[in-house]
Amino acid sequence: MSEHHFLSLLTGSFSTPSDDNPTVAMVEAAYRHHGINARYINCDVKKDNLADAIRGAKAMEWIGFNCSMPHKVAVIDHLDGLAESAAIIGAVNCVVIADGKLTGHNTDGQGFLTSLQSVTDPKDKRITLLGAGGAARAIAVELALAGATHIGIVNRDQSRGESLAKLISEKTKAKADFIPWTSGYRVPETTDVLVNATSIGLGDAEALPDIDTGSLRKGMIVADVIFNPPRTHLLRKAEEQGAVTLDGLGMLVNQGRVGIKLWTGKDVEASVMHATLATLFGVA
Ligand SMILES: NC(=O)c1ccc[n+]([C@@H]2O[C@H](COP(=O)([O-])OP(=O)(O)OC[C@H]3O[C@@H](n4cnc5c(N)ncnc54)[C@H](OP(=O)(O)O)[C@@H]3O)[C@@H](O)[C@H]2O)c1
Repeated sequence: MSEHHFLSLLTGSFSTPSDDNPTVAMVEAAYRHHGINARYINCDVKKDNLADAIRGAKAMEWIGFNCSMPHKVAVIDHLDGLAESAAIIGAVNCVVIADGKLTGHNTDGQGFLTSLQSVTDPKDKRITLLGAGGAARAIAVELALAGATHIGIVNRDQSRGESLAKLISEKTKAKADFIPWTSGYRVPETTDVLVNATSIGLGDAEALPDIDTGSLRKGMIVADVIFNPPRTHLLRKAEEQGAVTLDGLGMLVNQGRVGIKLWTGKDVEASVMHATLATLFGVA
């Protein structure tokens, strides 16, 4: 009888560009830490090669993969089914392969939700969301499905903001409004959770969304999707005002944890993944 374990479970990521994607480091750190005999391979897959890459993954019996730019919508054509939130969001960033069938999930919003749940339950909460792009869409849908009552969507581009508000109101039990982003926007006093889901702050610790930071207050939760650098200007201002803060590293780590759970069924610890990313980003 063979006692060898030379065949690893295979997971990975399909995107392009892919060299700056840190997910491989954090997922493999979790696999090593928990002694899971699995690999995560970061693959540069160009737009026209997605179908072949997926065929390859199936042929090699991968258990799943993440997909990022530019494949999050295109991948849906290659799947056999979608999880509820992925179907509403209309984008997939995590695919599970089981018994030759591919199911699409969206772990962006779930990663955010898990991070938020470490400080509060979104049920019956009022959310103010800055942004209406891919991350904002995933977060809004997941918070709505988790029972948030109202989501105010503040966005620069009107049509993107309105279409997200419409999606939430039509496809979930939550109510949503589009709020045009005027300079020095005052966050409503009734807001329980403010989320920056724009790209403002990415690679720039001084960039700040154009809001009145005096409207942030004690008792409010302020979350940022930006993970590099994680201590954003917005979070520093929010701390000064006495708000509870959540950084984008938490969202990223939890997104990885949700993916690993979907693929392997195993719950992995956040700490080792968090430490790996913090070291990479020089914030350890
Ligand atoms: N922590 C994590 O795990 C995680 C996961 C996913 C994404 N992210 C981060 O989330 C950020 C957004 O990603 P995405 O995929 O949603 O991007 P996206 O689809 O391009 O959306 C970008 C959003 O930011 C807004 N925006 C950009 N610059 C702005 C400015 N100067 N003023 C006002 N609004 C501005 C855009 O507004 P308009 O609609 O008006 O253009 C849009 O709402 C990225 O930085 C990404 O790294 C983090």
